[in-house]
Amino acid sequence: MSNEKGLPRVDRYAPSRERLLTSSRPLPDFEVVGTQGPWLHLAGGTRIFDGSSGLLCTNVGQSSPKVHARIERQFFRYSFGAAAVVQPHIQMELMERLCRAVGRPDDSVALTTCGTLGVEVAVGLARNITRVRDRKVRGDILTSTLSYHGMSALTLALAGNHARRPRPEDALGLGPGFPAPYPPTHPHEERDCDASCADEIARAIDRRGPQNVAAVLIEPINGTTGGAFVPPDGYLRRVSEICRERDVLVIHDEVLTGMWRTGTPLASHHWDGCVPDLVILSKGLGAGYTSVGAVLVSPEMARWVRHEDADPLPAMGTMASHPLMAAACLGVLDELEEMDFAAFTARGERLGEALTSLKGVGPVQNVRGRGFLYGVEVTPGRLWPVMKAAEERGMFFYPFTGAGEPKSEGFVVAPPLTSTDQDIEFLITALSDALGAVT
Ligand SMILES: Cc1ncc(COP(=O)(O)O)c(C=O)c1O
Repeated sequence: MSNEKGLPRVDRYAPSRERLLTSSRPLPDFEVVGTQGPWLHLAGGTRIFDGSSGLLCTNVGQSSPKVHARIERQFFRYSFGAAAVVQPHIQMELMERLCRAVGRPDDSVALTTCGTLGVEVAVGLARNITRVRDRKVRGDILTSTLSYHGMSALTLALAGNHARRPRPEDALGLGPGFPAPYPPTHPHEERDCDASCADEIARAIDRRGPQNVAAVLIEPINGTTGGAFVPPDGYLRRVSEICRERDVLVIHDEVLTGMWRTGTPLASHHWDGCVPDLVILSKGLGAGYTSVGAVLVSPEMARWVRHEDADPLPAMGTMASHPLMAAACLGVLDELEEMDFAAFTARGERLGEALTSLKGVGPVQNVRGRGFLYGVEVTPGRLWPVMKAAEERGMFFYPFTGAGEPKSEGFVVAPPLTSTDQDIEFLITALSDALGAVT
């Protein structure tokens, strides 16, 4: 059957699960016909609360008039213009605003199209910097056993995420280099993890020889691999000291935690003495309106990237220099910078306290996190009943990848940062009810 243009006629769009090659999880069965902030409006006239900001990215909610206005203005000015084609004014404006917003005003920036490519570019830059600076090849990048840094062949091979690790023969000879400082991956007999767990990194670097290691790549607060584990106080500072003593760079992967997700512009701002050499941002920067990544490089390190012996600067990539992408990010910054930060902080604290008090309710075994990012761990086998009970009460969450043996189970609570007091109260009440209904 064909239509009047000779194309096969499609009477009805019926999604076929088999066609989708990217997820083995059950597909949610709700269809969205509109959005407002953290709420998704469904075909049947009801609405559902997005308790995990999409994939931890819709930080300023959906349908933002500010983002819309920025994109529209740029759309009618010009819709494509990369650095090699026209002056990349809007991209430069974004870099300027972004660096100031996250408290790194003197940094240099490489824009990319997503978090994975941000990590790839950061790895390339770290290798380039250490090679030029030290006149040696320092190629190794050390990551933790509980980490996810993206879905390219390189980043999958580097990271510890057990569910996504390539087969040994496909791992490019790479793998995580040190245990993450959390109970499932670093158990101790008579104490909890503390700052001294960073000494594992010192040992890992020294085993390889510091002259062979370019950087330690670390999520300052754990994301969806394990579920929002927060490092012990002093840990990140110790990591920085260890790396500095050995001329190894520190790269913070803040793809998920950056842009106020944990309550501060960067997750590392929760502690002193741990300013990294490079930071990667992505999810909250585009806030789901656009794919984007950004690698911020400190001035001390950026000078090596511009050295006459350095390799060519990383290309922005065709789409990384997209003006509509930059426009969307500027709209997101408009939203974020207009937030009432005192109220935002208070809401994050209220959320944290309320979730922590759910420990022991129904199947809840543990709760951890900061700001607007929490991991709720439940008794193994109870995750999907909880997800179902939550959905029946009008909200959904993103399950995290478990850690330890047997693997933990749970979900991430990470509502949009622009959620109101009423939104947060709704989430807390409905989630308590859902958990209480699952034994
Ligand atoms: C910490 C971290 N790094 C990197 C990535 C990869 O980002 P993307 O999915 O945008 O490529 C993710 C994605 O979830 C992430 O959580």
